[in-house]
Amino acid sequence: MKAILFLLLIASQLLSFAQKFEANYDEAKMPAYSLPDPLKFNDGSQIVGKKDWTRRRSELYKIFETEVFGVTPDWKGALEVTKLSLKEDALNGLAKRKEVRLEFKKGEQKVAITVLIYLPKKSKKGPLFVGYNFDGNHTTTTEADVLKPDSWVANNKELGITDHRANEAGRGKSSSGWPLKEILKRGFGVATAYYGDVDPDFNDGFKDGIHPLLDTKRDSTSWGSIAAWSWGLSRIMDYLTNDKDVNAKKIIVIGHSRLGKASLWAGASDPRFAMVIANNSGCGGAALSKRIYGETVGSINSAFPHWFCDNFKKYNRREDLLPIDQHELLALIAPRPVYIASAQDDKWADPKGEFLSCVYASPVYEFLGGKKFPAMEMPPLNTPAIGDISYHIRPGKHDITLYDWNCYMDFASSYFRVKTN
Ligand code: GCU
Repeated sequence: MKAILFLLLIASQLLSFAQKFEANYDEAKMPAYSLPDPLKFNDGSQIVGKKDWTRRRSELYKIFETEVFGVTPDWKGALEVTKLSLKEDALNGLAKRKEVRLEFKKGEQKVAITVLIYLPKKSKKGPLFVGYNFDGNHTTTTEADVLKPDSWVANNKELGITDHRANEAGRGKSSSGWPLKEILKRGFGVATAYYGDVDPDFNDGFKDGIHPLLDTKRDSTSWGSIAAWSWGLSRIMDYLTNDKDVNAKKIIVIGHSRLGKASLWAGASDPRFAMVIANNSGCGGAALSKRIYGETVGSINSAFPHWFCDNFKKYNRREDLLPIDQHELLALIAPRPVYIASAQDDKWADPKGEFLSCVYASPVYEFLGGKKFPAMEMPPLNTPAIGDISYHIRPGKHDITLYDWNCYMDFASSYFRVKTN
């Protein structure tokens, strides 16, 4: 009898698990939804002048803080910078390369972010991309002397990791997503760090990473891991503003996938980022949540309960109740340029939902004197729609490719007037 009951319990759990995670990929099955208007105050009144936008923006920002990403505590501590290496002729003389460690301490606890920086030798102080990598700085480059992370990394068959420690097998394995030579030849610099240095990406009750150093108490509005990664991007920015080889006014924050979600929140939170790029950022990134297509609020919160604040879980299967949607995350970046990109086969990230966020963020850019987003319909494949908000969709799977980078560089070159070497 006990055994039967046990089996029934398992079966019912499996059923509810399957129901919870069944993704909708049919536009016809989407619920009717209406999106909140970013140009209306919470009380429904219309914003009129530019000053009103400042007030409306803080209303919106607060909702994203308390209902989505969580509130990031103030960081009042000191940033300790250690220069780890300097190479004047990296990548066959193409770049000056540096590694620096940024250290944060509270009592015995400390967190250290190792930043790998490549600067083009030929063009000084050009724009610079800053973004995280998934598996360690050494995976972005084939150069043998770039440091591996000391922090926890996910086990990964392809990278030969079985003990949560990075090893040599991973060196250069993500270099297709980091086309360093192409980037440097076009006059851009790159700064990258392993995102797990800031907060290891697993659900540990916020015991490791940066959370315990900043948290005094936690509640339903406390920051999750995405906000922590965004915070780390701002600390890298703190360092870059003091690096005399870098023009701090031309820093572009970039991220792929979950790291694209982090780059959007970093861009919304820190106005020093001059441009924001989110590649295949999907749910909780650029994709509209209320469409219920591909990954939903419920599925992301179940699979990654540590990414957002606990309040976000109120909207599991109740996206209709969300007081914001993701077009308003893009609006928080206005009037700075933002570039969103999708991949055709990346249905989980809802390419159309990513595109529609651009459409519905456009009125805010226009209100602030920017250009209207130039597409009302999804543009054809490999045909970027370029404006203050830019968008493209390319064929292929969830990934960041040379094509994506070339689009970002074309856009940033014209924006920052970069001369190619
Ligand atoms: C999962 C997750 C996505 C995320 C992606 C990634 O697929 O569901 O939300 O963007 O991982 O970061 O690769």
